Order: sequence, then C-alpha cells, then structure tokens
Amino acid sequence: MRSWASGSGPARGEGQRNAGRAHRAASFARIAFFRSTRGNQPAVAVELLISESKIRDRLEVMGRQIQGDYRDKPLTIVAVLTGSLIALADLVRQIRIPLRIALVQASSYRGATTNATTLVVNEAFAPDVAGRDVLLLDDILDTGQTLSALVEHLKDRGAATVRTAVLLRKIGRQIVPIEPDYCGFVIPDAFVVGYGLDYNDEYRHLPYVGVLREG
Ligand code: IMP
Ligand code: MG
Repeated sequence: MRSWASGSGPARGEGQRNAGRAHRAASFARIAFFRSTRGNQPAVAVELLISESKIRDRLEVMGRQIQGDYRDKPLTIVAVLTGSLIALADLVRQIRIPLRIALVQASSYRGATTNATTLVVNEAFAPDVAGRDVLLLDDILDTGQTLSALVEHLKDRGAATVRTAVLLRKIGRQIVPIEPDYCGFVIPDAFVVGYGLDYNDEYRHLPYVGVLREG
C-alpha cells in the first residue's frame, strides 16, 4: 500500500494563489463499494481513492483562495466538458464574488499516420472572454496537452489573464510543461473515475474518485 505525497508545491513567484498545496490522495486500499456486472462484461470494481468529504473540504479551500485572488476582477470560469461539471458545480458555490460560467468541449484526435494530436474546441456555450480574467477548470491534468492548448486558445480570444484549476493532477504522465494555479489532489498514475471523470462515458456520477479495477 502506498500513499502519495504532493509532487507539486505551490507555484513559486506570483504570490501564493496556489497556497494550500495539493492534498495527498488517500491510499488505494479502501473498500470497493461500487461494483457492476452487466451482461457478459467483466465485473468492474471501483476502489475508493478520494472520499466525497475530502473532495468537499478541498473544494471549499480552493473556492476561498479563488475568491480572494479574484476580488474586484471580472472572473469567468471556463469549465472543460464533460469531466469538470461536478467539480464546477461544487466549486462555484464556494466562491462568493461575482463570476460568469462558460463551457468548452475539447476533443483530441490522433492523426491516422502521425502521432500528432489535434485539439478541436467547441465553444457553443462559451461567451466572450475578451478582457475577462479567465480561470480554466478541468477535471484532471494528465499529459497536459488539453489544458495548455486551451490556455493558448483563450489568450487568442483576448482573455486578460488565464489561470488554470484542476481537481486532480496525475503524477508521471505529463509531457507538456504546465503548472496548474489551483490543484485539488495529486494522484498516482492510475485510471480514475467518478466525480465527473468517466470510463466510456460511465461512472461520472459517483460522488467520490476511485480507481477502476477489473474483476
Ligand atoms: P491531457 O490532455 O492528457 O492532460 O488529458 C486530459 C483529459 O484526459 C482529461 O480532461 C480527461 O478527460 C482525460 N483523462 C486523463 N486521465 C484520466 C483518468 O484517469 N480518468 C478519466 N479521464 C482521464
Ligand atoms: Mg475531460
């Protein structure tokens, strides 16, 4: 059994907006209390990694930090669909300053003949961010490709500033250097579901974050 320390402390410089470093994720060995069998598909268990109450407490802290950092600024939270929806709903209710909410969808496609990935951004629900202070919210920072591409995209759209917030940051997978300004939890390199995160578009509704295990 291993427990995981935060690999990333607060961002240096630029104040302590990231203060309250990413919390340690719970260790793996907890009860699997979501189990499903369907048809002849293998049984799947979700092992608890971060409990509902830990997420609630952490989002409360993050919300307070964001509230302090964006006082008197025209804040727009741009949430990346679909994974960040649940974090968005819980986070914004901890922020007691005026803000706007926008949604973007980003899908990456790997070229058939090359390894290059193209990110396609759908902004059907994203109002104008020109001149706004944007906080981009995603469920998880994995390779970093989505978040860094979206940061550039929002700057191109004329956002005054763009910072990033993620519920989870996976250790050992990042290929694009980007430091999130607000990070909920640092987690090990495992495939996680729940609290917005999916596997094949399922499991998003679980109120906790867990590791998907077969069998
Ligand atoms: P990145 O561009 O590699 O950082 O990918 C980020 C996206 O990959 C996230 O928005 C998630 O949708 C997805 N993703 C990465 N790791 C996981 C995981 O463990 N579970 C579910 N989705 C994940
Ligand atoms: Mg996603």
